[in-house]
This record gives sequence, structure tokens and C-alpha cells, in this order.
Amino acid sequence: MERKKRTAPSIAAMKKAGEKVAVLTAYDYMTAKLVDGAGVDVILVGDSAAMVVLGHESTLPVTLDEMVMLTAAVARAHTAALVVGDMPFMSYQASVPDAVRAAGRMVKDGGAGAVKLEGGRKVVTRIEAVLDAGIPVMGHIGLTPQSIHKLGGYRVQGKNDETREALLEDARALEEAGCFSMVLEAIPWQLGKDITDAVSIPTIGIGAGPHCDGQVLVINDIIGYSDVPAPKFVRRYGDAGKLVSEAATAYVRDVKSGAYPDLDESY
Ligand code: KIV
Repeated sequence: MERKKRTAPSIAAMKKAGEKVAVLTAYDYMTAKLVDGAGVDVILVGDSAAMVVLGHESTLPVTLDEMVMLTAAVARAHTAALVVGDMPFMSYQASVPDAVRAAGRMVKDGGAGAVKLEGGRKVVTRIEAVLDAGIPVMGHIGLTPQSIHKLGGYRVQGKNDETREALLEDARALEEAGCFSMVLEAIPWQLGKDITDAVSIPTIGIGAGPHCDGQVLVINDIIGYSDVPAPKFVRRYGDAGKLVSEAATAYVRDVKSGAYPDLDESY
């Protein structure tokens, strides 16, 4: 049976219905088709593409044009899952008009059904303006990788009373601004629970414990398609790296020996 198309309002409604939100990243057409077929509710075209697709050392270098191109590839899979395009570093930080134009490109040229941007109270003016343009926004607080230099590394956030309170305030601000959901990244599980209890929109955790309304992971991490050690919160469900490596090794062996192609594989 064909699944009903997920939208930002239908994702928001999942919290009240008590249904967990399953989110995975994807950055290309075929992966989008596969994860959609598996039943994910949201496909996030994350700026993690900078690292896992483009080989950069952080998410900072990926450009808006690159994110639009990757988002468009995912959107062409015509998924039942909602496609959320991640707004890259410096596409919204400098000004409100920048934010609206960049979000507009993610929807108009990239085919996204919503955008995600990082930050709490400081980005509320951007969120409100993007929403005014008719584009749903997913928030993202906790460890925000676009602020990695300010944070001083990929560290768990909200570990003391002051930062814990600040993150609760940020979460309330995102809800009040009109976000349809928010990512909580790398925070203690108790804070993940407290934020989840404090807001009426779904919280999507990544390293934020089991009490969030949903979970998101980077597809490369769960399928073992990465050359860096996965963080503690990742659960690996496959070994695509081994699969590719073994298939490529066998192919090279067959070409070198003349075993490939045979006449059945020829015209
Ligand atoms: O870029 C990304 O993949 C993300 C998720 C890790 C939440 O922002």
C-alpha cells in the first residue's frame, strides 16, 4: 500500500498521536528511495554531506549550491517521507533576507518540503521570516556543528545548570517561533527528556537519549559507510563499506585475470 505523504504538519501531529518519528539522512536519489521504502518519516539532507559525501573535515565548507544540488537529487525520488533540506553555514547567519532567500532556494530549486537551521533564541528572527515565506522550519539545538569553533569541539552540551537552562529556553523559543520539530544533538538524556516534556512539538534526538519523540542518525554511520569511528550514540545496522570493498576487489581480480566479461556478458 502506498504510504501517505508526510508533511511538516503531519510530522508535528505525531507527538500528540504518541508515534515516534524516524529520521535518516540521505544525499542522493537511490539512497532516498531505499530509506523511504524502509518507512522513514523524514529524510534529512544534512549538511553532514560536507563530511560524509564531499570529504571535508567539518560541515562548514559545504555551499548552498551544493546543498541545493543534493536536496534536488533526494527530492527526485518522490518519497512519502518529508524531505528536509539543511541550511548550510553562512546561508542564514548574516541576515534575515539571506535566510529567506537561501530557504527559498532549498524549496524552489531543491524541492525540499521544509528546511532545518541551527541555533536557538539567536536565530528566531530568521525562523520567523522563513516561516512568513511559507516554508516550514525544523530547529536544531544542543551540539550545533556549524558553531564548532565557538564550542571548541564536538562536545556534549547542557551539562551544567546554566547551559541546561539556556537550552530549555532555546527549545521554548523554537516552539514559540513556530518550528514544526527540533533536533536535539549530543545532550544528556535527562535534558533530552526535560526538553521533550517542555515542548509540544516533536524533539528528534541524536545522542539525546531514548525519551525524545524521534531519532535521527546519519545514514553512513548506521550502514558502516564511513572512514572515521562512529560516535557513542550510533547503532550500526550494516556493513556497506565491507560490501563495496569486497565487490570492488572481486571485480578488479576478474578484470585482471580476464574472467570478466565472458561471452554472456558481451554483445
Ligand atoms: O547534518 C546532519 O546530518 C544533521 C543531523 C546529524 C541532525 O544535522
